[in-house]
Amino acid sequence: MNEPSTKPRFTGRAVESAINKIGAVNRPKDEIDEARGALEAVRSEAASTPRDEFYMPRDRMGALVQSAMAERLGQPAPEELGPDFLFSDGDPGWASVLPSLIERWLTVNAPFRTHESHRVDFDLPDKAGVALFSDWGTGRPAADQVMREIVKGNPDIAIHLGDIYYSGQEHEVVRRFLDHFPGTNGAGAPMRRFALNGNHEMYSGGRGYFDVVLAAMEQEASYFCLSNANWRLIGLDTAYKDKVLADPQMQWLNALLAVPDGRKTILLSHHQAFSLFEEVDPRGLYEQVRPLLEAGKIHAWFWGHEHNHVVFRLRAGMAARCIGHGAIPYFSPNADFSARTFPDLKPAFVNRRRRPDTLQGVNGFAMLRFDGPELMVDYIDEDGTVTRTEDMNLVLSGVSV
Ligand SMILES: [Fe+2]
Repeated sequence: MNEPSTKPRFTGRAVESAINKIGAVNRPKDEIDEARGALEAVRSEAASTPRDEFYMPRDRMGALVQSAMAERLGQPAPEELGPDFLFSDGDPGWASVLPSLIERWLTVNAPFRTHESHRVDFDLPDKAGVALFSDWGTGRPAADQVMREIVKGNPDIAIHLGDIYYSGQEHEVVRRFLDHFPGTNGAGAPMRRFALNGNHEMYSGGRGYFDVVLAAMEQEASYFCLSNANWRLIGLDTAYKDKVLADPQMQWLNALLAVPDGRKTILLSHHQAFSLFEEVDPRGLYEQVRPLLEAGKIHAWFWGHEHNHVVFRLRAGMAARCIGHGAIPYFSPNADFSARTFPDLKPAFVNRRRRPDTLQGVNGFAMLRFDGPELMVDYIDEDGTVTRTEDMNLVLSGVSV
């Protein structure tokens, strides 16, 4: 992903050019004004980002601009067209992709699919390997390296926790996600695939995710439950409505967990319930799920979104793990900062391994090994290094962290 689209100065130029040309787009004035306002917000964000820093905007227009830039880069460029013209008013390739950028901005979201009319329940074998990885839909070499390690572990099931870049458009979900995600493991056995929704999928209205990805995964809805006699793995959609559970997921979850049946429940979602970097939103995901947590009904929760690998100490009786380090370049969090700002959040482990010759952290994933009531979790980096192994029952009983 070392493309100009991830550099703030190129994004700034592209946005400037889009603002200059948006008046020529044939749409109602209020729509154009709204799009111009969003472009101006991206321009100021890009301008305030350090010039050579990796730039990953977390808003719809910023992501759509990056998708349009990548689309323009896929077109042949005249020999004389150097960096000074790339994405500028005078770049003919850029001008050709601008109308689709605005079109995407104005597209309404794909319809949400519910368990009332779609299949969401699946079997989890009693003995099963399940790979969890997140923020991986980049098509980068690091993503391929992570996938090679996943496949090597011969999982029965592999679940992506969301984010296909830049904005999850139909051609992006093919080129940056499906083309890199095989349906068989290293033993040549079928690897059942699932994919959760992420904010980047929704930046283009979720059509690539709902129409293309779900069909490829043979998955009917964006939330689901995999269960056996001992465990439940529940995938949630926290992106259709940003950072909360869109209806009717909460009702479904409550009904699923209403009667204690001895099974342990592991949630999977793109967004985090809490963070080393942000306050808990009083109207957000954590608050939605809090009654279930306080009732001791949630035992573990794996999420991504934040590009780090953090294992938290038990909180509200739950083992929380951030595995958003699937493919995006990132820098390890500063432990002193988090300890100062959120003293009640105690990371038991933060992956601080760096890629050779750079300050950037290594990418990786989690491999869950279910065996009856037992669950072992390995955290594996892109080079195959196992950075941590945990026995989930010992973690949940407080014997180990
Ligand atoms: Fe995300």
